[in-house]
Parts: sequence; structure tokens; C-alpha cells
Amino acid sequence: MLAIAELKPFKLKNSLNTMISYKSSFYLKKKIDRLKAEGNKIGFIPTMGALHQGHISLIEEAKEECDFVVCSIFVNPTQFNNPEDLVKYPRTLKADSILLKEAKCDFLFLPSVKTMYPNGTAEFKAPEVGEIVNVLEGEHRPGHFEGVMQVVSLLLDHVNPSHLYMGLKDFQQFAICSKMVALQKRPIQMRGIPTVREKNGVAMSSRNARLSAPERNKASLIFETLKLIESEKDKLSSSQLKVLALQNLQKEKAFTIEYIEIVDKESLMPTSKQTNLIFLCAVWLGGVRLIDNMIL
Ligand code: PAJ
Repeated sequence: MLAIAELKPFKLKNSLNTMISYKSSFYLKKKIDRLKAEGNKIGFIPTMGALHQGHISLIEEAKEECDFVVCSIFVNPTQFNNPEDLVKYPRTLKADSILLKEAKCDFLFLPSVKTMYPNGTAEFKAPEVGEIVNVLEGEHRPGHFEGVMQVVSLLLDHVNPSHLYMGLKDFQQFAICSKMVALQKRPIQMRGIPTVREKNGVAMSSRNARLSAPERNKASLIFETLKLIESEKDKLSSSQLKVLALQNLQKEKAFTIEYIEIVDKESLMPTSKQTNLIFLCAVWLGGVRLIDNMIL
């Protein structure tokens, strides 16, 4: 049983505007249901915090299209296949709430593990989205997407938005969540938002905080490789492009390449076609796992 204080909306200290934060969805959901009944569009951006401009671009897109915007911050234990990664995940709530207020986010949902999983984490039955969960990230991070589907599904139950905004940086996550939302017949419009990059091309990520300055420079080779592949895509076959990408990434000795794939953009499966493709890669650098992609 939750204490009353848990259920009441609260205002963060140093409040700059009227963003309202909630630890439980009791009042949040009531408010959203009322706003929706009045005809408002409600945009939702689930995050794990340590916010950067990539996350904020999702808030901005939602602000453009919707009447009210909800962001959640919850470091979801069930999607971390590596326990060390969960422990090391940056937690920067104060800075996050300032960024969200600046972006004019209306509501912030900050559930605890107990709020999200009152009966433990085992109960969830993931929808059958097919092979897409077992390839690429799914192959290298077993159980990761089951955890993502579990938490996104629960967050959607709590928030009940009309629009869901997710980044195309995590392309497979977006594809899987889109499938899940359709299978669950939720009346939610999906929006995939382009990747926001640092000046040197590195895709912004909360995990980048764990890279040293020289490592951040080295990481720029990933985007250079994406651009190289894009520039050669009309001249070379997919397998030739993969070899080219591998050779280019291998120039950086500090990289450990986990996978490089060119697959069908819809199914994320290998294909002999030369159209509707996406290049995806995962690279380790200084103990940090970096993923990136480019639609070809
Ligand atoms: P998190 O890594 O915090 O990302 C939250 C959202 O921001 C995701 O939709 C992600 O794709 C998007 N995002 C991250 N970096 C981005 C960038 N550089 N440009 C554009 N969008 C970017 O992804 C998760 O959290 C979790 O798996 C979550 C969906 C919240 C479930 O726990």
C-alpha cells in the first residue's frame, strides 16, 4: 500500500515554471484522461534520465504537435542485461528537471521501482512481435527488448498518451515498440525522431558521459563511417558496404566492433534487395557500448 504522500503531485525545488512532477500516476492519469476528453493531444516521451539534447528534441517535437507533453524518467532494471551497466547508469534528476522545464515540458512522471513493479518484475507477458527481438541488439543483449517492452507497456498504462515519441537512434527499439503498440491495439500515434549528434557527429547518448575527451574524438569515426557508407551505397552491394564499414572502423584500434549489419528497414532481417535498407552497428570503446545507424 502506498503512502498518501506518494500519490500527491509535488513540485521540484527551484521550480522555474509550472512543470508538475508525479511519483505515482494516480493524479497524472486522472488529469490526462480529463485533458484527452476535452480533445487535447497528449505527447509522451519515456526516458531513463541523464537527459541531453537528443531527449530534448523529442520533447520539442511533442510540444510542436501536442497540447500537453509528459516525460517520464525511470531507470528500468528489467532491460539491463548487464548489472554493472545498471549500477553505472548516470542519475542526474536535478539537471534533468531544469532541462525539461526549459523545454516547457508540462508533466514529469518519476515512478519508483515499487510503483512500476508492485508485484515484482516477473509477471509481464511480452507480446509476440516476432524475430525482430532476437536480431542485432536482441542477439547481443538477451532479454533487453523484453524489458523495454515490459516497461514501455506499463508506462503507457500509467500515462495513457495519444502520441508516443521515440528516437531513431535506437531504431530497433522504435520498431519493436511500434509493433507492440499496434498488437496491443493502443490508440497511440508513433513518432520516430531523427538522431541528434554532437558537433563531431557522435550520436548523443547518456552513456557518452562515461567517455573521456580523447575517446569522444575517437568515437566520431562511427559517424564518418556512416557517411562513407551512405556516399558509396549506389556503387557497392550490401556485403561490399559491410566490408568497407569494417575496414574503416578497424582504423581505430580502441574500438571493439560487436556487429555491423545492413538489413531490411522494416523487418530488420537480412535481404538481397538493394532498397529500403538500414545500416546498424554496435561498437565498444573504453568500456562503453555505442550504437548508431543510418537509413540508406
Ligand atoms: P533513453 O536511453 O533515456 O532514451 C529515451 C529516448 O530518447 C529514446 O526514445 C531514445 O531513442 C531517445 N534518444 C536517445 N538519444 C537520442 C539522440 N541522440 N537523438 C534522438 N533521440 C535520442 O531508450 C530508453 O531510454 C529506454 O529504453 C526507454 C524507452 C525509456 C525504456 O526504458
